[in-house]
Amino acid sequence: MAGPVVYAQWSNVYTGPEVANGLATQGLDREGNGGQHIMGERSKVAVVGSGYVGTVVAACLASVGREVVGVEIDPEKLAKLQRGSAPFFEPGLTERLLDGVESGRLTFTDDFEVALVDAEVVFLCVDTPPGETGHPDMRSVTAAARSIGRAMHAPHVLVTKSTVPVGSGNWLETVIENELPEGMDPEALSVVSNPEFLREGSAVEDFLHPDRIVLGGDQPAAVDTVADVYRPILEQAFPGGDKTKRPVLVTTSRSTAETIKYAANAFLATKISFINEIAGICEAVGADVQEVAYGIGLDSRISDRFLNAGLGWGGSCFGKDVLALAAMAREYGREPHILEAIRRVNDDQRDMVVRKLQKHLRPLRGRRITLLGLAFKPNTDDTRDAPALTIARSLIAKGAVVKAYDPMVKEIPEIPELKTTADPYAAVERADAVVLVTEWPEFRELDFEAVASRMKGRCFLDGRNAVDPATVRAAGLEYEGVGRADSHPVSMFD
Ligand SMILES: NC(=O)c1ccc[n+]([C@@H]2O[C@H](COP(=O)([O-])OP(=O)(O)OC[C@H]3O[C@@H](n4cnc5c(N)ncnc54)[C@H](O)[C@@H]3O)[C@@H](O)[C@H]2O)c1
Repeated sequence: MAGPVVYAQWSNVYTGPEVANGLATQGLDREGNGGQHIMGERSKVAVVGSGYVGTVVAACLASVGREVVGVEIDPEKLAKLQRGSAPFFEPGLTERLLDGVESGRLTFTDDFEVALVDAEVVFLCVDTPPGETGHPDMRSVTAAARSIGRAMHAPHVLVTKSTVPVGSGNWLETVIENELPEGMDPEALSVVSNPEFLREGSAVEDFLHPDRIVLGGDQPAAVDTVADVYRPILEQAFPGGDKTKRPVLVTTSRSTAETIKYAANAFLATKISFINEIAGICEAVGADVQEVAYGIGLDSRISDRFLNAGLGWGGSCFGKDVLALAAMAREYGREPHILEAIRRVNDDQRDMVVRKLQKHLRPLRGRRITLLGLAFKPNTDDTRDAPALTIARSLIAKGAVVKAYDPMVKEIPEIPELKTTADPYAAVERADAVVLVTEWPEFRELDFEAVASRMKGRCFLDGRNAVDPATVRAAGLEYEGVGRADSHPVSMFD
């Protein structure tokens, strides 16, 4: 599909070649003009939930000129945010947060009345962790919705950024309606689905320079209002904006927008599990998965993105979103064959490391193993569903002694037996084996001679194919990657 050419208001939807399959895919004209300013007197934006997503949304919207009030119920986080300090590590966030707070464009509160009084648009960014049945746990969403309902004294557009099951827009309307103050018209609430696609580690960049902004709503005026909040980003009209790469605005129904989020994450997870399955086959037949990925990735229908074989995906989103999509499919009598398979492949990648260590170190009990990296990916301190934690638990359960180093994660309170060190060289001291779990750039720069001289054993498992095998081998270590021609395969029977 060609890039966006013409911006259109909802009331005057552009019906050129961008309209496909019922989706109005809108853009802005090349000069960045288009649309009137819709936001009126209550022009602040409220952002409910100040975690990894909400804080980035709040700080970035403030940095492009919006007045933003963030809502957070965790008192410790709130106190930090009010001082302009980020409660977690994310590149580029602290500067924006501090600038917003110091300029007064960005404030934080735990009081919904205060947040909503001047804000017509309310972004919902609270957590939706995995629930017991595969469906997400909606307790935070429910609590936040109730608080919003009770604090509503004027019309609001509620924008759901939390990843919520399809149909949640309707459900939220009901929850909020039940809490409205006396005399408040239920029609005063509109819900627009606006899934978030940012990646931790590059969240600020992703939010400010997205490929697309998806807005799903059944009331055109509400969708226009939200598009207006995004105007500086859609037009890339802010310092550092790139007018040659304006995001596509996709406007659609609420259910479709909610589905787009799940489908996007499921597809990305599928690509990773696919290449990991191919990696296993490469190990068996003596082929090299890196070269296979390169060879297939040059095909523009496939692309080389998300084709890195390794320990698989982790983090707070892929696992729970794939589970939730599968649970939704079953609710409607459909068996999610592919979704089930990609989860199994991903679980198996974590298991594969343990089986390789068992094979190399026989017996595993009593061996010292070092994990390089604990965060689920580089440039974040987030360890939710991190492969390192699964691997550490499994090794400890099998009697190994596990130490770890991560540039950003300094402790894992939920695994007290897992000791962390202040630098990578202390972590590898006397190790029988080292496993590179997270591909932090600094691990590529390690002095492998120094690593080898401190280790007791020779085994270096590169779980991300991140370092140069020749450099590791030249230091006298035995290098093994994932899916490399010279990897030792472990089968399901090992
Ligand atoms: N983390 C990501 O990379 C990412 C990317 C895209 C979408 N999402 C989705 O965005 C949502 C938020 O994810 P996250 O990673 O930011 O979660 P998080 O746990 O980091 O943040 C949620 C925040 O909401 C706060 N909160 C909970 N209940 C509240 C209430 N009633 N009122 C005010 N604040 C409340 C929590 O204290 C917490 O600070 C989830 O649905 C997630 O699936 C996450």
